[in-house]
Amino acid sequence: MRSLIDITDFSPEELQELMDTACDIIANPEKYQDSCRRKKLATLFFEPSTRTRLSFEAAMLELGGNVLGFSEASSSSVSKGESMADTSKILSCYADIMAIRHPKEGAPYVAACNASIPVINAGDGGHCHPTQTMADMLTIYRECGRIEHLTVGCCGDLKYGRTVHSLLSALTRYEGIKVILISPKELQLPEYMKQDVLDKNHVDYVEITSLEEALPQLDVLYMTRIQRERFDDATVYERLKDSYILTPEKLESAKETMRILHPLPRVNEISVKVDDDPRAAYFRQALNGKYMRMALILKLLREAEAGLQMPREDTLDNVLYCDNPNCISSVEQELPHRFRPTNPATGEYRCIYCETKKHKKN
Ligand code: NCD
Repeated sequence: MRSLIDITDFSPEELQELMDTACDIIANPEKYQDSCRRKKLATLFFEPSTRTRLSFEAAMLELGGNVLGFSEASSSSVSKGESMADTSKILSCYADIMAIRHPKEGAPYVAACNASIPVINAGDGGHCHPTQTMADMLTIYRECGRIEHLTVGCCGDLKYGRTVHSLLSALTRYEGIKVILISPKELQLPEYMKQDVLDKNHVDYVEITSLEEALPQLDVLYMTRIQRERFDDATVYERLKDSYILTPEKLESAKETMRILHPLPRVNEISVKVDDDPRAAYFRQALNGKYMRMALILKLLREAEAGLQMPREDTLDNVLYCDNPNCISSVEQELPHRFRPTNPATGEYRCIYCETKKHKKN
């Protein structure tokens, strides 16, 4: 069954097709109001969420479908020790499509391997968040008129911020994208993102710590919150939490055409005084998320009816072992430790769930 686990599961052409559908939905909402009649979306949220879950639910309701699900792990059988594989098999009996958010990296992938309905990753730990990226891309497309030839600044928690990981994976496939990574040293982009995404796609990027230095160059500023829930040490969070605060004064040096995006929720990183600035696009971005999720649900249900399958990958099972405590394989004992070869010349492999790197000696 075709699912959306990582944003690169879709080609740039498919993402354009989704943006075109979203624009058509915006222009002609009545045309879509019965498109999902008698279809059910299950939302399985093992981690808190306001906009992602509700925008999925609003998207399905606006398509004429129904929704069921839960919004905290304690109200599901997982709290009794049920595996992700079993949960997804059960949900396949009750719904036509499901969206999963989970604190462990790779959990939606495990669900997709076991479900007989399409699975949408609605955020897995600090790993990725492809539907937020779809909202981000439609916002950039509508506000800037293009996705190519842009200088994009990503600011804040680039280590744990899954939205930045997915956004960079998507943007680096477009021409002329320059990236400025703005973060405290402790919260820099993970090494696998730099190697496998930026370097591999020959992206022009720099890492800096000063937002003020970056601002005049940017077409898009992507602000993010410091991800308190992913810190092992609360004192480190306390020290870093107010690293960046965007104010009207700082914005004076930015281009008039620059757009400010934020996946939300914001904590302190954008002053409310910025909200009335025409460059502040974050509330429009939240609305775009609903339209993109409508387009996505339509696409995946159509492909499920046509019997499209996820491509099979060559993997190495139970030879290398993942030691990332945030990986789904760290909590599900019966899950195979599964790696994909990423560099045969060096014997490098990546965990299929969380992308932890290992080397295998020949
Ligand atoms: C983001 C997330 O959950 O990763 N929020 C969202 O989906 N809109 C960003 C965040 O929580 O900081």
